[in-house]
Formats: sequence, structure tokens, C-alpha cells
Amino acid sequence: MKSGLQNDRMLRALARQPVDRTPLWLMRQAGRYLPEYRETRARAGDFMTLCSTPELACEVTLQPLERYDLDAAIIFSDILTIPDAMGLGLSFVQGEGPVFAKPVRSASDIKRLAVPDPNGELGYVMNALRVTRAALDGRVPLIGFSGSPWTLATYMIEGRGGTDFRTAKGLLVDAPEAAHRLLGLLAQSVVSYLNAQVAAGAQVLMLFDTWGGILSTYHFREFSLRYMAAIVDGISREHEGHRVPIILFTKGGGGWLSEIAATGCDAVGLDWTVELAAARQQVGDKVALQGNLDPTLLLSSCEGIRTEVSRVLDSYGPGSGHVFNLGHGITPQVPPEHVSALIAAVRELSPAYHR
Ligand code: CP3
Repeated sequence: MKSGLQNDRMLRALARQPVDRTPLWLMRQAGRYLPEYRETRARAGDFMTLCSTPELACEVTLQPLERYDLDAAIIFSDILTIPDAMGLGLSFVQGEGPVFAKPVRSASDIKRLAVPDPNGELGYVMNALRVTRAALDGRVPLIGFSGSPWTLATYMIEGRGGTDFRTAKGLLVDAPEAAHRLLGLLAQSVVSYLNAQVAAGAQVLMLFDTWGGILSTYHFREFSLRYMAAIVDGISREHEGHRVPIILFTKGGGGWLSEIAATGCDAVGLDWTVELAAARQQVGDKVALQGNLDPTLLLSSCEGIRTEVSRVLDSYGPGSGHVFNLGHGITPQVPPEHVSALIAAVRELSPAYHR
């Protein structure tokens, strides 16, 4: 067993080594669709208190594992911890999502930013990882994560989610040097943040490039991919004699899979618009693949969900190298029993692909 884990399916699949069935975890597996999450969240009072109190972050990280047979835990945190630690003044406004009091707009705003100390301002994330890793006691691997530089930059520049990105895209065109300075600083911050996460107990890393797919191919290469590649180069891939795999997920990145795989990452996350069979043909000899059921389908009937799970498994086909997941995060409206149906389907249908 890898790393002394009781369940190392996820690590084996990421290394494209044989498994007995396809491992599975779900993006946003801890969250508002679970009543026990809403209860802890209410007790914490607000979202950032939940993230920054290690015992509470640990509690919600483990909630989906108590309920479901999942093959990995993902530390409960957020990608916006880095911009928050840079002093932008993060708050979560009810019904609006994240808002920054001090968005970054000009070259002089960017000059004032510094790489946060992962064991200082961000030390609460490391504490949450340490507490959670100990509580997991080797049941499944613990995933650490960060936003990609470009995705973090969109929130920092726009000051909120849910925009058309005109300010962020405008910076790339009208002040490319300032944009590169910001993205370079974010890449350095992410490298030190992820290395510290590994030291604190993360066994797998994932980079969320949620907004890479809104860029033109040229801008994606220049302003997103380049910095993700720098991060893959910069992180230590071994810890205590074990490899630490990294998964890159560009939502909407289906047209750039070969380039993403060429960064040297271990796995590529796919949204549901990509056909797994085609992705595997393109990059399956270099990386593992993670995905990619449309999370909206979790609102359909349990029979429908089972059919769609079988479609995803069938599209990847026989052999290792697939980590089952959604193509994006689970939404708050999903009934918890539908997640049970999804997990049962993966458990029952996937062994046939690993004989
Ligand atoms: O996957 C997990 O279970 C781990 C936890 C996790 C959260 N956010 C918890 C969270 C992870 C991996 C993230 C990543 C994240 N955060 C991303 C990248 C992935 C993606 O979904 O594209 C992004 C873009 C964010 C930024 C962010 N954080 C937004 C846009 C929001 C508001 C969303 C909303 O629905 O209100 C958050 C808050 C947030 N992060 C919540 C959770 C469970 C909801 C907060 C609450 O409880 O009110």
C-alpha cells in the first residue's frame, strides 16, 4: 500500500497502476447539499471562520467520508485564501459569492502585493491539514489545493465573482507587463503555499483553473498555462519517500489537453464537455484523467444517474488511469441520496473495467 494508506486506489490510478475499481471523489464533496455541513456552518457563523478553525475545517472535511464510500478527502478551504492573505479584504456576501473590498486595478496596486507566508497568514490552512491528516489516520489520501494564478487574478481584479471578466481581460491586453507581474507573484505564492501544504500532510495536489477556459488560446498559453507549468516545476513532487501527484483542472480547457498534459502534471481534470475516450487517446499515455460527469445531472433520477455513470466509465474504457469525479463542483440543490446512487453505480459498474 502506498504511504501506509488503507485505501490507495486514488494514488494508484493517478500513477496509472492497476486498481480493483475506479477511485472516486467529488469536487465540493463537503458543502451545502449536506445538512450536517449546514449545521456546522451555522455553528461557525461564517464561511471564513469555518475555514480558519482547524477543528471545524477537519469536521466538515470528514463529513462526506462518514456518509459515503469515497476514495479521497479534500481539505476544506477555499482558493481565495491567498488573495485574502495578500490583504484584499475577502468577504462572502449572501447570495453574491466572494467580494474583495480592495480589488487590484493598477500597476501600483500590483506593486504593493507580496507573497504571503504559508506558515504565517496562511498558517490556519496548514493547521487544518495537520489536524485532518491525523484524524484520517490513513483511511484515504488527503488532497490539498490552490487556485491557478489566472483564476485567482480574475477574482482579485474583478473584485467579485459572476462578472464578464472585462476588467481582468482588459489588463492582459492593455497592461500585459503588470499582468505578468501579478501572475508571477501569484505563481510564487502558489508554489510556497502548496509546498507547505505537502509538509503539513497533503498527499495529492490539485490546481483549480476554473476560469482558464474563458480565454483565447493565445491568452490561455501566455497568462494561464505558462504559470501553471511554472508551478508544476516549482513544487516538490516527493515527500518522505512518496510521490506527490498533481492534478491540473482547466474548466473549458478541452481544446488544450495536450499542452496541459505536457506541463509534467500527473493528471488532467476534465469538465463534462470533453469526451473521455478522445481525451484518453490524446494524452492517456502521459497522464491520468479525472472527471467528468455533469454535476447538473445529479438533479436527475437515480436510474438516470446510473446510466450516465456507465456512460462515463465506458467512455474511459478498460484499464487504470481514471479517477471518477464530476466535471465541476456539486451544487447545493443536489439531494444527498443522489450522491449515494452515483457512488453505488461507480462501485458496482467499474470493477468490470479492471479485470
Ligand atoms: O471541494 C471541497 O469539498 C473542498 C472545498 C472547496 C471550497 N471551494 C469550499 C467552498 C474548494 C476546493 C473550493 C474551490 C473554489 N472556491 C473554487 C474552484 C473550484 C470551482 O468551484 O470552480 C472557486 C472558484 C472558489 C471561489 C468561491 N468560494 C466561490 C465562487 C464561492 C461561493 C460559491 C457559492 O456557491 O456561494 C466560494 C465559497 C465556498 N467555498 C463554499 C464552499 C463550500 C460555499 C460557502 C458557504 O458555505 O456559504
